Amino acid sequence: MVGKIRVAVNGYGTIGKRVADAIRLQDDMDVVGVVKKSPDYGALLALKKGFNLYVPTQDDIDKFEITGIQVSGTLEELLENVDVVVDATPGGMGAKNKQIYTRFPHVKQIFQGGEKPDVAEVSFSSLCNYKEALNKASARVVSCNTTGLLRLICTLGNHFKISRVRAVLIRRAADPREVKKGPINSINLNPPRLPSHHALDVKTVVPWLDIVTAAVVVPTTLMHVHHVAVRFSEGGVTREDILRVLEDARRIVLVKSAVTGIKGTAQLIEVARDLRPRNDIPELVVFEDSVHVEKDELMLFQAVHQESIVVPENIDAIRALTGIEPDPEKSMSKTDSTLGLSKKFFLL
Ligand SMILES: NC(=O)c1ccc[n+]([C@@H]2O[C@H](COP(=O)([O-])OP(=O)(O)OC[C@H]3O[C@@H](n4cnc5c(N)ncnc54)[C@H](OP(=O)(O)O)[C@@H]3O)[C@@H](O)[C@H]2O)c1
Repeated sequence: MVGKIRVAVNGYGTIGKRVADAIRLQDDMDVVGVVKKSPDYGALLALKKGFNLYVPTQDDIDKFEITGIQVSGTLEELLENVDVVVDATPGGMGAKNKQIYTRFPHVKQIFQGGEKPDVAEVSFSSLCNYKEALNKASARVVSCNTTGLLRLICTLGNHFKISRVRAVLIRRAADPREVKKGPINSINLNPPRLPSHHALDVKTVVPWLDIVTAAVVVPTTLMHVHHVAVRFSEGGVTREDILRVLEDARRIVLVKSAVTGIKGTAQLIEVARDLRPRNDIPELVVFEDSVHVEKDELMLFQAVHQESIVVPENIDAIRALTGIEPDPEKSMSKTDSTLGLSKKFFLL
């Protein structure tokens, strides 16, 4: 590819606006435009940040211009001038948008975890299967929970033979800016019937894995927390072995509760509020004191910042699909250093 990769970000909400900012930090790609459906504060913010603003259809142009918000054109006009579209529209809408994207065969397509797996040629997790996505026409970056589970599973799987994974997901009810979602006073089974869909989603990337997940949703907006139990098929794995692997692992940070006083998501986010744009934590956070090995089984608690954990994976997916960087490690190193991911984040 000659010059920088030209990217459209369709959907400028929780994920889209973060991906757009992250693209701007790369030296091998540019945001040509972002697409918004509603002429609201989010559209004004996109303009204020200097993004070219596009809308889904010609009808939407009138809707925006009545409110005085100038737009650069429609999604289809934007697609004429890009190499990649990152679809960050609400779950299920990506599949509908695909019908538009396929009219632009030169444009590679990246979808998010709210879409069904068959929306794309490959479900993507940088640490697990970057090379599978090389030069493909489309990829689906798996959901925030699945990205968190896969970061742990693929990191451990590179060092130990995993025989099975069982995980309980404690999910946040809504993102901080969302005003219509709940529950606000209940812990809901999500779903009541086991297994939850997260295990199936993990299997879209590692189909051979024996994994069962269960999930509840709780009244918080900050982060998800997972309790994960990993059984190994060989005995002799120690807590120290696990900690050594996690200490060296990319995109995973250990937080020492006894040393820092951090015992939950409010404190994690408080650190990020002081140190990070939008209090984002794209790293998977593993609570070091919870790491426990009993016979052949590891148990631990980990936390997932749902708004930002998939952002590095979207950047890597752009490089993989375009083939501009065939080496996963090189792409991830570049992404991690530009986004400021840090192994030492919670050591302050
Ligand atoms: N939020 C998370 O925690 C999270 C984590 C990982 C993955 N994901 C996945 O990422 C995807 C996006 O989720 P999100 O949370 O970022 O959603 P979101 O905050 O609701 O943002 C969606 C954006 O898409 C725009 N949009 C709606 N209809 C559109 C259309 N027809 N054409 C173009 N844009 C349209 C919305 O525009 P308006 O605001 O103008 O209406 C909004 O800017 C979903 O697949 C979701 O499952 C979300």
